[in-house]
Amino acid sequence: MENPIIVERKERVVIVTLNRPAARNALNSDIMNAVTSELAPLDRDPDVGCFVLRGSDKAFAAGADIKEMAEKSFSEMYSEDFFAAWDRFAAFRTPKIAAVSGYALGGGCELAMMCDMIFAADNAMFGQPEIKLGVIPGMGGSQRLTRLVGKSKAMDMVLTGRMMDAVEAERCGLVARVIPADQLMDEVLKAAQTIAGYSKIATTAAREAVDRALETSLREGLLFERRLFHSLFATADQKEGMKAFVEKRVADFKGK
Ligand code: CAA
Repeated sequence: MENPIIVERKERVVIVTLNRPAARNALNSDIMNAVTSELAPLDRDPDVGCFVLRGSDKAFAAGADIKEMAEKSFSEMYSEDFFAAWDRFAAFRTPKIAAVSGYALGGGCELAMMCDMIFAADNAMFGQPEIKLGVIPGMGGSQRLTRLVGKSKAMDMVLTGRMMDAVEAERCGLVARVIPADQLMDEVLKAAQTIAGYSKIATTAAREAVDRALETSLREGLLFERRLFHSLFATADQKEGMKAFVEKRVADFKGK
């Protein structure tokens, strides 16, 4: 059996390719278990500074595997806490970029939203079509999409099941950048290498601070940010980063 994912390392960047192109990368348990278990040690590796998650040219991922789910009962879904393992992916602390080409539907769109940012090829199509199957999003779509694009657009996507293209996705804040399809990976890798070149303590703190904005009040979020900012003055990388600026040289961060 082919490996459900391909994991490659380019210096401090780890590229994960979902590898069920014939099934449009439908997210079955094999993919879920491979992504969470193979990335867990890399997430803890101080020499890994960024993850990139991508699919094929045609499909980032067309959602949870409908064929795997179709015959399950409520008690199976509930007792397995089906999809809960994806929480482990969302909780990885290494910055993650979703490189979306083609379809990102249902669980595919939800997986992309678990990443810190989405870079979309100009052929990307996003959607939460679960309503057409008699269900609703189950990997965070109703929550993350609403926080990213607002209630009205999220309701439109979740209740009609329609797709939106990359331009609309960028306009409404789902996507960070839209890139011509043939340049997608070059631009994603450039951004990933830039991020991976910074202090991993600082990038971890930065993403924790931004994520907190979606979960708390402004007052608490501002305090959380300020305390994290203060705490970075305990790191060697802060000393190195500011010294390098003053000495007009490139900083050499150690993640300490
Ligand atoms: N689950 C299982 N198999 C899938 C799949 C999915 N989500 N999406 C595509 N496939 C399979 C198809 O069944 C087909 O298999 P066969 O070759 O064995 O017939 C193969 O992938 C190719 O699919 P298509 O022929 O349909 O390819 P296409 O290019 O014409 O269309 C598509 C692509 C628009 C993505 C279409 O496949 C599609 O609509 N897929 C389903 C999308 C969907 O409903 N996603 C939501 C899933 S539920 C979910 O994700 C719940 C959640 O919240 C986590």
